[in-house]
Amino acid sequence: MAKHTAVGWGHHHYHHLQNRWLLALLLMLSVSTVIAFFMRSAFDSCDRTVSAAVDGIGSSRHVIQVAEKRTTPIAAVKPSPLSFMKSKVVLLVSHELSLSEFIYFIIFHYIIPFPVSLGGPLLLMELAFLLRSVGAEVYWMTIMKPSETDEVTYSLEHKMLDRGVQVVSAKGKEALDTALRADLVVLNTAVAGKWLDVVLKGDVHRVLPKVLWWIHEMRGHYFKLDYVKHLPFVAGAMIDSHVTTEYWKNRTQERLKIKMPDTYVVHLGNSKELMQVAEDTVAKRVLREHVRESLGVLNEDLLFALINSVSRGKGQDLFLRSFYEALQLIKEKKMQIPPLHAVIVGSDMSAQTKFEMELRDYVVQKKIQDRVHFVNKTLTVAPYLAAIDVLVQNSQARGECFGRITIEAMAFQLPVLGTAAGGTTEIVVNGTTGLLHPVGKPGVTPLAKNIVKLATHVERRLTMGKRGYERVKERFLEQHMAERIARVLKEVLRKSKNKSSRHIG
Ligand SMILES: *[C@@H]1O[C@H](CO)[C@@H](O)[C@H](O)[C@H]1NC(C)=O
Ligand SMILES: *[C@@H]1O[C@H](CO)[C@@H](O)[C@H](O)[C@H]1NC(C)=O
Ligand SMILES: *[C@@H]1O[C@H](CO)[C@@H](O)[C@H](O)[C@H]1NC(C)=O
Ligand SMILES: *[C@@H]1O[C@H](CO)[C@@H](O)[C@H](O)[C@H]1NC(C)=O
Repeated sequence: MAKHTAVGWGHHHYHHLQNRWLLALLLMLSVSTVIAFFMRSAFDSCDRTVSAAVDGIGSSRHVIQVAEKRTTPIAAVKPSPLSFMKSKVVLLVSHELSLSEFIYFIIFHYIIPFPVSLGGPLLLMELAFLLRSVGAEVYWMTIMKPSETDEVTYSLEHKMLDRGVQVVSAKGKEALDTALRADLVVLNTAVAGKWLDVVLKGDVHRVLPKVLWWIHEMRGHYFKLDYVKHLPFVAGAMIDSHVTTEYWKNRTQERLKIKMPDTYVVHLGNSKELMQVAEDTVAKRVLREHVRESLGVLNEDLLFALINSVSRGKGQDLFLRSFYEALQLIKEKKMQIPPLHAVIVGSDMSAQTKFEMELRDYVVQKKIQDRVHFVNKTLTVAPYLAAIDVLVQNSQARGECFGRITIEAMAFQLPVLGTAAGGTTEIVVNGTTGLLHPVGKPGVTPLAKNIVKLATHVERRLTMGKRGYERVKERFLEQHMAERIARVLKEVLRKSKNKSSRHIG
């Protein structure tokens, strides 16, 4: 990589950059408890995981800008697969941004150029910046309640303007005109569907043929005609996994008696920053030591972590049961292995949830306090990925829509113990990059056995981690995602052109 070919000046910059990251990360670790970060629990699983996932698209820009100085003389930059979007007019329709997401965003772009979990709107924002970088004319509108034009929105819009994204009102004539003028309109999440009628009114049918609907939700309450009645008439829908796509096809047909438009599955990818840290042994070692020290665990201890907001849907309760069972098995069989620890990243006691109280009670009752560590919700996942040995993805019911944390963990060469549900089944190759177990109570014992398996078979664990990393390099990088999105946008543009020319003709 550039790192090796660069000499002198370039090298110096490389290290400078690395150190800044490390510093920023360590800083984040220590301040993350002060700043009340949260992922929106109101959002469903899909949203959150997607978000965790797609920051990849453009999040890296801050770093890239810094890094460009170094790389430009060495290697020509490969043209973006999205370059055909140059001078196209694109309107992006988001729903409101919460304060929390905004705080994160600021941190992301100014202080810490690092991939973490994002909400749906930020995913769209990264697409905005990516399109800007290839010279598209990008307009942004946020659907929100009238009372919400506050400081947060103001600063956010400022940030958008800085990056050349034009922020327009989601209401009135300006909104309508922009929608009519656009070559492409991207609606983010099912919720944005309401905007179509309210704003476009009688002109809605002129806009629908150029709408691409990006859907990240997998919950029942989105299956309302109120939100999605125009879905059959848009140019296309883009969904993060095959299973979620199937689910939408089924539900729209069976519940609402409507047909999905052409639907494209777009798996997400890891950002360049995440990959750079994941591939930097020095950075990883520093982060690992720091996190382990903060948790009070030794270098040789085995850490199994579940990184997700604490809620029943994410299966922390079942994971702890499996973990306890695994400890029992190890004790019974008198296995000589280093101590096992469970790390639950995503705790939020300020929310006073009954569920989290249950988890903590369970730990006390089983007397495994010294083996279970709760870490507050944080959006900075990389240090934990650097510190742990195995990622547990225990999302229940239909699982994750995609589950970006899964590909992030694989980038860090971690094997994944995941439920055989949702996007996880499209990411993890059972037996090769991880092991799958059933959802629900039937999965408790299989997961316990898988924990023991990976704890005892060191070679197998490490090999699975390496295979996972190879899989990420093959298909879950930012460039892969950009290519996938590019194919969809091309298709949507082609279709909308055909329709509008027929209208004129
Ligand atoms: C879709 O519906 C069919 C028939 O109702 C069912 O067999 C199938 O499992 C469903 N698929 C999903 C992903 O829900
Ligand atoms: C975690 O968050 C709680 C409030 O939710 C806070 O009281 C506690 O100090 C935090 N823990 C750490 C280690 O920062
Ligand atoms: C995963 O593989 C194991 C064997 O390696 C098998 O027992 C299990 O049924 C598989 N699970 C799924 C969901 O394919
Ligand atoms: C344009 O639309 C017509 C009718 O829907 C279709 O038959 C034709 O194949 C389309 N052409 C292109 C280039 O997509």
